Amino acid sequence: MNYEKTFNKLSERVRDFLAKSPRCHDWDHTVRVLNNARMLAKVEKKVDIRVIEIAALFHDIARADELSIQGKICHAKKGAEITRQILLEEGLNENFIEKVAKCVKRHRFRSGAAPQTLEDKIVYDADKLDSLGAVGLGRAFLFAGRIGAKVHNTSVEALNSKSYSENDTAYREYLFKLKDLPKKMLTETGRAIAAKRVAFMDKFFKKLDEEIYGSEY
Ligand SMILES: [Fe+2]
Ligand SMILES: [Fe+2]
Repeated sequence: MNYEKTFNKLSERVRDFLAKSPRCHDWDHTVRVLNNARMLAKVEKKVDIRVIEIAALFHDIARADELSIQGKICHAKKGAEITRQILLEEGLNENFIEKVAKCVKRHRFRSGAAPQTLEDKIVYDADKLDSLGAVGLGRAFLFAGRIGAKVHNTSVEALNSKSYSENDTAYREYLFKLKDLPKKMLTETGRAIAAKRVAFMDKFFKKLDEEIYGSEY
């Protein structure tokens, strides 16, 4: 196969699918995950970069499906099925398709399938990295805005509130989930980058406190 041509064609198909996805998991998210995955793959010696690139491309293909029925299906599991179907239609090798589909399924632990191969782990870490650092802050505020949450709150307010409430702020997402992500990363490089990104977020929220609660000067 002409890999470049196939990759471009698949990108177009995925892009069409993601047109229905909300901004936090749209085509731009997929491109960032792809870039993160390529960055992590460069460090590792023995990986199948084609499995990584195509799995990164397809990893959230079923996001809109999951949302349309209020989370009653798992987008990773459904995404693996769609991936298999599209790659078969494009005439890719079955052994290769299986590797990519498993990688898509395993990008989310909650789907009951933990990442196993190095390719799985790279796609998993690449996806998690997009929740952290400057881009993670952007996405967290974007999500908070979408559900009508406030710009900021105190840690007491954030920790004692429910998801999808007005106190489900970017800060709440950080306290409950994002700050602990470095421990959950599966590659050494992913962990190191995640730690740096969390340090940046911590600094950002301290500055936000200073500006909001009048202790800046
Ligand atoms: Fe996902
Ligand atoms: Fe994702």
